[in-house]
Amino acid sequence: MQRTLILTALALAASLGTVSSSLAADTGLSISSSTAPVAQKLDAAGEGRRLFLKLNCYGCHGMYATGGMGPNIVHAERNDVHEVLMRGEDKGMRSYRDYVNDTDIANITAYLQSIGTPNEPTFKDWWKKTPPK
Ligand code: HEC
Repeated sequence: MQRTLILTALALAASLGTVSSSLAADTGLSISSSTAPVAQKLDAAGEGRRLFLKLNCYGCHGMYATGGMGPNIVHAERNDVHEVLMRGEDKGMRSYRDYVNDTDIANITAYLQSIGTPNEPTFKDWWKKTPPK
């Protein structure tokens, strides 16, 4: 009787050990993925500002989209942004067809629409996980 109990306890301990070590492995995974450099998700205008900087739109349209070598695109409409990004423009703008999806286009439009409003994001460092406003 005594012996059976001990054996049962040992078996239980062993199986608990397995469970807890597999739990530890799982936890380890989720810890490492949550500490990976994942950018904080911003609102649509913020994500659009990120793309505007990351895709170098500012290089031609100016830091705040008011124009440079390319035209002022403040408050551009979604259809225009979509069309231009898919097709490119003859006079100096490539197509971004392979680099943006519909959500990106909606976010870029939200950013362009936000310019001049209190919601306008003005940060310059798109690579920051948590950019200042
Ligand atoms: C290499 C320079 C360059 C880059 C980079 C660039 N553009 Fe352009 N973009 C232009 C030029 C030049 C025009 C105007 C072409 C024309 O008049 O036919 C234009 C036109 C546009 C228009 C239409 C404006 C209008 O009034 O018709 C939009 C919208 C636009 N760009 C958005 C963007 C966005 C968003 C990005 C980044 C994803 C971007 N552009 C990147 C040069 C650039």
